[in-house]
Amino acid sequence: MDLLELARGPLLMWSLIILVVGVAWRLLGILMLRRKPDYSEARSGATLWGGVRTIFTRMWPRKEFQARTAYGTALGYVFHFGLAIVVFLFVPHILFIKDLTGLSWGGLPSGVIYATGVVTMIALIAALIRRLTHPVLKLLSNFDDYFSWFVTAAPVVTGLLAVAHLGARYETLLGLHILSVELLFIWFPFGKLMHAILFAVSRATTGALLERKGAAT
Ligand code: HEM
Ligand code: HEM
Repeated sequence: MDLLELARGPLLMWSLIILVVGVAWRLLGILMLRRKPDYSEARSGATLWGGVRTIFTRMWPRKEFQARTAYGTALGYVFHFGLAIVVFLFVPHILFIKDLTGLSWGGLPSGVIYATGVVTMIALIAALIRRLTHPVLKLLSNFDDYFSWFVTAAPVVTGLLAVAHLGARYETLLGLHILSVELLFIWFPFGKLMHAILFAVSRATTGALLERKGAAT
């Protein structure tokens, strides 16, 4: 079995199983955490609304922090949207998702995807440089931050190399591309990439608690 067959076959299956079981395990663990009873009198009963609202209001920094955080926020938005466009609107990716789930939709022209891939990669590199040079962020960063960056950037780099036919045979590059995606799938449940799901859980919890206290969110 060559690299590409291995990557497309058993490794893909196992990485998807680890992704799904790992995410379910972490979510169950968090949802089953015991909560301390709160004996205080609720100032508001609209905790559900407070939770849902905070999922959205936290998508943008508060006015007081906007100027200071603008660069980091802009980089974050560029690479997250870039990743979403490349992953969900590139025709070969849509075909892959269709094989897996039966669902499909229209894609963008390949040239647009390659340009988006390059912009995404530049924003990811800028975010890494910011992390390595920012006096506070540098101190706060650990293995999870750097490894999560690496597994996010690797599929973008290998995808771009594959379509540019740069560095090796196309089949080898494609094999490496798929392997890098599998590494992302496997790491996803265990590190901070879980924020892609947990952001909603944590913001909703914060929002509901603040609403109960009658505090502005
Ligand atoms: C600009 C960036 C990217 C480019 C140019 C690119 C390009 C490609 C190409 C040409 C294929 C081959 C399709 C085929 O021949 O069957 C492919 C497959 C794939 N890519 Fe990407 N890709 C990029 C980024 C990503 C990212 C960020 C992810 C996920 C995090 C990803 C996930 C996949 C998957 C799952 C496949 C399917 C493998 C299969 O056919 O079995 N790609 N990509
Ligand atoms: C709806 C889903 C997602 C939301 C709401 C979200 C939100 C965020 C936020 C708020 C940050 C902090 C940005 C900052 O420092 O300014 C962040 C960082 C990050 N996200 Fe996401 N994210 C999502 C999905 C994903 C996915 C699917 C991936 C990759 C597969 C990803 C990769 C990253 C990485 C690598 C960072 C850290 C960048 C750095 O080194 O500073 N995110 N995300």
